[in-house]
Amino acid sequence: MSKFKYTDENEKEFQRLLKKYPNSDAMMLPGLWLVQEQEGWVSPDAMIFMADRLGKSPVEVHSFATFYTMFNLKPIGTYHIELCKTLSCMLMGAHELKKFIKETIGIEPGQTSEDGKFHFSEVECQGACGGAPMIALNNEYHEKMSVEKLKNIIQECKNEC
Ligand code: FES
Repeated sequence: MSKFKYTDENEKEFQRLLKKYPNSDAMMLPGLWLVQEQEGWVSPDAMIFMADRLGKSPVEVHSFATFYTMFNLKPIGTYHIELCKTLSCMLMGAHELKKFIKETIGIEPGQTSEDGKFHFSEVECQGACGGAPMIALNNEYHEKMSVEKLKNIIQECKNEC
């Protein structure tokens, strides 16, 4: 039995989605996405919850969640910085942004800062190549990014915490 529960709002959304998707396989992605929006990551407990809700085994849910790189399988920082590492963004300066993140926050891709505020991921093309280089901060896109703009964004995040 899982201790994880959707919030009332997410439970309503889950019920709405259940009517929209044809079967439990198709519901796995939106169901886990709701979990991640709520918790910031998909815990083993939440996988058991999802298995119960969709009539799957926990192993099936685990296989699914680990296949998709967008699911965080451990807790991440308050601010999740995703930097695109694909061609257009690399050509337009993603490397400098990566270097800046390392110098200012002290983290490499896959790491969370010691204070738990920031988590840094490198991701494949996010479909915003026209705005390269881009980062996503907690899923919100910031295009035509520069070191100066990133410096301000990071400072704003630090001020908010
Ligand atoms: S290459 Fe970065 S968004 Fe497409």
